[in-house]
Amino acid sequence: MTRNRDGGRRRYTGYSGSKAMFTRIIPVAFCALLVAAQGQGADAVVLQIKAGQVAAHVSPMLYGLMTEEINFSYDGGLYAELVRNRNFKEDPKEPVHWQLVQEQGGTGTMALDPSQPFNGAIPTSLKLTVTQAAGSQRVGIANEGFWGIPVQPNTRYRASFYAKAGAGFSGPLRIAIVSNDGATVHASAQVRRVTGSWKKYEAVLTTGKAKPSAENRLVISTGSAGTVWFSMVSLFPPTWNNRPNGSRKDIMQILAGMKPAFLRFPGGNYVEGRTIATRFDWKRTIGDISERPGHMNDAWRYWSSDGMGLLEFLEWCEDLHMQPVLALYAGYSLAGERVAPGADLEPFVKDAIDEIEYVMGGAGTTWGARRAKDGHPAPFKLEYVEVGNEDQFDRQTGSYEGRFAQFFDAIKAKYPKLNVVTTARVSGRNTDVLDEHYYRRSEDEMASHAHDYDTRARTGPKIFVGEWATRVGAPTPNMSGALGDAAWMTGMERNSDLVIMSSYAPLFVNVNKGGMQWPTDLIGFDAMASYGSPAYYAQQMFSLHHGDVVLPVTAQGVPTREWQPPAPAGRRGAPEPPQPPPPPQQVPTLFFDATRDSQAGTIYLKVVNRAGTPQPVRVEISGLAAVEPKGQAITMSASSPDDTNSITEPAKIVPITTNVEGLGASFTRTFPPYSITVLQMKGK
Ligand code: AHR
Repeated sequence: MTRNRDGGRRRYTGYSGSKAMFTRIIPVAFCALLVAAQGQGADAVVLQIKAGQVAAHVSPMLYGLMTEEINFSYDGGLYAELVRNRNFKEDPKEPVHWQLVQEQGGTGTMALDPSQPFNGAIPTSLKLTVTQAAGSQRVGIANEGFWGIPVQPNTRYRASFYAKAGAGFSGPLRIAIVSNDGATVHASAQVRRVTGSWKKYEAVLTTGKAKPSAENRLVISTGSAGTVWFSMVSLFPPTWNNRPNGSRKDIMQILAGMKPAFLRFPGGNYVEGRTIATRFDWKRTIGDISERPGHMNDAWRYWSSDGMGLLEFLEWCEDLHMQPVLALYAGYSLAGERVAPGADLEPFVKDAIDEIEYVMGGAGTTWGARRAKDGHPAPFKLEYVEVGNEDQFDRQTGSYEGRFAQFFDAIKAKYPKLNVVTTARVSGRNTDVLDEHYYRRSEDEMASHAHDYDTRARTGPKIFVGEWATRVGAPTPNMSGALGDAAWMTGMERNSDLVIMSSYAPLFVNVNKGGMQWPTDLIGFDAMASYGSPAYYAQQMFSLHHGDVVLPVTAQGVPTREWQPPAPAGRRGAPEPPQPPPPPQQVPTLFFDATRDSQAGTIYLKVVNRAGTPQPVRVEISGLAAVEPKGQAITMSASSPDDTNSITEPAKIVPITTNVEGLGASFTRTFPPYSITVLQMKGK
């Protein structure tokens, strides 16, 4: 053993094939001789790629997305609605996120009024009483949005609200996007007359040469005295594919850049809720948004409008050509409420079967017809459903076993071709896929697990790594997180015959103060802008650049560094007795895998150099007549593992594509410090 330049110990080890563990295959002295003989110095790693062989097939579903309402992912995030607390239900005591506007001496009051309910789903409204308004005086209500109402120049915003006038009041009302200091009206429209019964009013607010800013409010005001009630106040900017209840364009563009194969939704803890009453109750998330009650997202401690409902999730899939992976509520909630298998569980099983019918049933079925009524006559393609989320945390022995069996049997009876995913190991049913979650607390910890699947038995269910992340960096991961992730992804890709799907979590974070419940999230945003973290770009590199078959690779001279694993920690309120820290480990600083496009012949060699020094690697490719000397390198590197992207510096670390020469059946390439590289080579 020798000391490497990172200060850790270097051990010469070799990795062989897709199903072998890290093993010492060449004695240290011999390895040094081998490398020296090739003139690369003692530090060169040798990778031998057997391009004529197939170690495994790469699952076409390997790279996808996981999403739930966390960190203001939808409300205040992807869901483009700009008005916060639009139906006034967020707090039963007061109209939070709304302010009373009193201009030029106008006076009035504003209060929730449960005596004037809007409808069965919204049992309250906002009452505005104008006591003084004459001349230029105005009184009204103003919404602050989700950390501001974003204004862009020359943009059309669709505004709408419901109103009902009190006796003697008929308006007019003005709806406007106004700067917080009241000095600038960016866009406005007039509603001439308001009647004494609830009615929807709509307007397009078009900005001019406005300076982009988030320091604005949506204001509905009047210059007349009297009383008027409001409900469902809404404002949408232009959306992706112009969907009326749609998604933010900039964030969708970032997601599209990953070409994800699937979307796992709606959770995560969000599907479970803390209680049964606060689960994701899909039937209350469909239909006109004015009839959706919304619910307290107590899994993540903020209100959910449910504007992002079941149909919107599906349309999101449609827009990005992703397959839905539908998580079904399975009778267990986070605070420990659970439904016993048997008769009590039956209504929940029926709900799940109805939900599947809503997704994939023809327009002639009950719930397919409801989907058609909601605006989407064509069924969605659905191949995977997941029963619950992290049900290993249900500590009542055997609870999931029974609940899962009941769901599994009902689903398979009606939809035998559907793949049913379990969230914990079960013995009573031959499940199709098992969802495993891995959150690691450091780059080294994640890297130390990158070979876990190499030795996993192939006899059980296929694996869906439905949540994983190297949790380094907040609100979004830094380069160290990306390096840990990339090391981990080489392991998933190499073992993609077993790991058929994977999705990082959480996907989103609103970076404003108060927006984040869970640090280390893939994509960040505020009201104005969004960005991908280095971990986002690492995933993009893996997702966009791989073949359909895994090639066996053997390695010699892979450097390592010492890592002290932390003591095990308890989860979900289940403290464990203090444990002594495990012994230190040697963790490789270089990770790699190779795949090949069997049609085009392209070889994709991925190399992750976690070290702070350049790493020469001798690549030897056998099994092909020739490898073209010209190819491409897609490289992302940083000068420090702490480097990161942010809302103010969104593209500090991004992959760069360069044309490379000097490739062939045998060549040496030096990989930069703290780097992730995909080498694309053409084999003949
Ligand atoms: O991704 C954040 C949370 O981590 C998910 O909601 C849950 O499934 C896991 O515990």
